Amino acid sequence: MKIIGTGSAIPKKIVTNDMLSEFLDTSDAWIYPRTGIKYRHVISDEKLEDLAAEAAVKALENAGMKAEDLDFIICSNVVNEYVTPSLSCIIQGAIGATCPCLDINCACAGFMYALDIAEAHYKAGSVKNVLIVCAEEPTRMTSWKDRNVCVLFGDGAGAAVLTEGDNIKGIKLSAASATDKLYQIRTLEPTPYITKEEQNISLQMRGQDVFKFAVKASTGDIRYLLDKLGMKPDEIGHYLLHQANVRIINSIKEFLEQPDEKFPTNVETHGNSSSASCPILLDECNRKGILKRGETIALSAFGAGFISGAVIMEW
Ligand code: UT7
Repeated sequence: MKIIGTGSAIPKKIVTNDMLSEFLDTSDAWIYPRTGIKYRHVISDEKLEDLAAEAAVKALENAGMKAEDLDFIICSNVVNEYVTPSLSCIIQGAIGATCPCLDINCACAGFMYALDIAEAHYKAGSVKNVLIVCAEEPTRMTSWKDRNVCVLFGDGAGAAVLTEGDNIKGIKLSAASATDKLYQIRTLEPTPYITKEEQNISLQMRGQDVFKFAVKASTGDIRYLLDKLGMKPDEIGHYLLHQANVRIINSIKEFLEQPDEKFPTNVETHGNSSSASCPILLDECNRKGILKRGETIALSAFGAGFISGAVIMEW
């Protein structure tokens, strides 16, 4: 398969580090040097499904494809207002598609997992055109009284349209259960029969454990793929990494011994938008003409689970 169109949609509300310090014991002087984040876009009056549909429509326009020509929609999402139906079904209706739909929750690595699922469908010969949408509102998972986590996240949606081709060179996925390091728990509807204790816990994170996992998993996945393909890090034109923290990106860059210009970032202006982060960055790079047709690019992300994924592909 190959990617022939990208799109993204971002909430209009911009929240700067200084705005956070109006109600939290935090500051730009703490946030910016530790994360690289200057501001993030946060959902206010928008609905995530509308942002998801907007990103999808832009990706279809960019690909020159009609929604009715889609054979499959995969949506990566951790949280949205609907428990059911799936976000992919909501997107399908909004854009006027008629194909089967599937939601996945692979935290921040959702775009890589979605690409892997799509690739399996292409190999099975069951699809021609696939839409992937990663739509996330992690700002609704965190407590806005907890400075450890709420300062890190932003919302948005990124999409990609795929068609037949042989541009995927390799995909590496991983999962290593660590449910106490990064998690959120929500209570479900009560029943007369529930006897266990249940609680609502906003997003919790052991930041330094996540940091170490992120660097290890991302460099490990990329190196695994490079070795398997008999390639050197120099042969990758651009590395599009999950935008969680600029220090994580810098550590991965040092491990791979690659120059700054190969690592486009947008964490400064978006924060961490979970699985939407990679496709939003991909769309920005695509529209700015940063990626040259035919160059080899690497995508890599990591997140709650722990889970990680990397893809090496020809652009
Ligand atoms: O998609 C994956 C999701 N998550 C990530 O990728 C996050 C990975 N981890 C990180 O990015 C970093 O670990 C953080 C940015 C979360 C934290 O940076 P750190 O250098 O690891 O800081 P720390 O955890 O060592 O915290 C240092 C201090 C603590 O105070 P004490 O205990 O030393 O007195 C925190 O309470 O900074 C305090 N702190 C804050 N201070 C001001 C934590 N958050 C804040 C804040 N403002 N927002």
